[in-house]
Amino acid sequence: ASTAATSVSISGDISSQLHGGYSHPLARAWQAERQLTKSMLIYPLFITDNPDEEEAIPSLPGQKRWGVNKLIPLLQPLIAKGLKSVILFGVPLDPNAKDALGTAADDPKGPVIAAIRILRKAFPRLFISADVCLCEYTSHGHCGILHDDGTLNNQLSVDRISDVAMAYAEAGAHCVAPSDMNDGRIRAIKLKLIEGGLAHRVVLMSYAAKFSGCLYGPFRDAAGSQPSFGDRRCYQLPPGGRGLARRAIHRDIGEGADIIMVKPATQFLDIISDAKEIGKDLPIAAYHVSGEYAMIHAAAKAGVFDLKTMAFEATEGILRAGASIVVSYFTPEFLDWLET
Ligand code: PBG
Ligand code: ZN
Repeated sequence: ASTAATSVSISGDISSQLHGGYSHPLARAWQAERQLTKSMLIYPLFITDNPDEEEAIPSLPGQKRWGVNKLIPLLQPLIAKGLKSVILFGVPLDPNAKDALGTAADDPKGPVIAAIRILRKAFPRLFISADVCLCEYTSHGHCGILHDDGTLNNQLSVDRISDVAMAYAEAGAHCVAPSDMNDGRIRAIKLKLIEGGLAHRVVLMSYAAKFSGCLYGPFRDAAGSQPSFGDRRCYQLPPGGRGLARRAIHRDIGEGADIIMVKPATQFLDIISDAKEIGKDLPIAAYHVSGEYAMIHAAAKAGVFDLKTMAFEATEGILRAGASIVVSYFTPEFLDWLET
């Protein structure tokens, strides 16, 4: 009886011993399937139509609206620290810039196209993505062209969005990223890229699983893209819609997306994990959005936790769920915090 008791307790001891596997910091790092590196990060930039603008955005601590003349001095030191990639958002400040069709979105003299040209020339190795949407440019603030009853006209919206994507690609964007959520836009953009002879050198990143909710508030402050009536719940996904997100991911892969994005990130880790499972042969991106960033800043300021520690925990959770690309307002900080 005593022999049996001893052998049970030894085998129990063996299977219970985990600490040895992660007592050293390097052994702890090896526990993660993916470790955060600088090349995973995409830094969002708000570009205005006033070329000399440099204006702080109160709801997004540390972030600014930039005029095109400020971009080189802004990015030079970040690139020296290892910045690899940015995503551009246009912010027209001119009160006459907005109309029902979002005409300013692909204005050749507009801030996004100007920024693409300047950055391509100044920083040949920087990877430049352009967000493609109309909400920053429409008088009503919705992400497409509307019917008289205020609902989205899907056909007109897709035609327009794909023209805007082409204009950014022709200007030199390495990646176009439609965030509008109109049905069929990935296919329409891919077809125009093929027709225009650009499909072989432009990445098409789909905001495939983009959920509606309150976490985009600071972004809409920053970009001046709050809808003037209604909300975006008829085109952005309902937060409980896991099945709908899976269908959207399947659809956008079928329509020719090269990268699938999930947004927001930390509230939707299950969706990131679904995206990785469905899209196991393509990179999965997650957008750690403005509200998530602002929350971490607010809580750190209130003494709830340390900013850097939380930024790492949130971002590493996003990687663990399955993303290998993270769009993050923390990118400049991570360039200081990370070694590679
Ligand atoms: C434009 C767009 C939005 C974001 C990215 N592209 C705002 C929205 O859909 O309302 C949100 C990004 C963020 O909150 O950081 N369609
Ligand atoms: Zn939009």
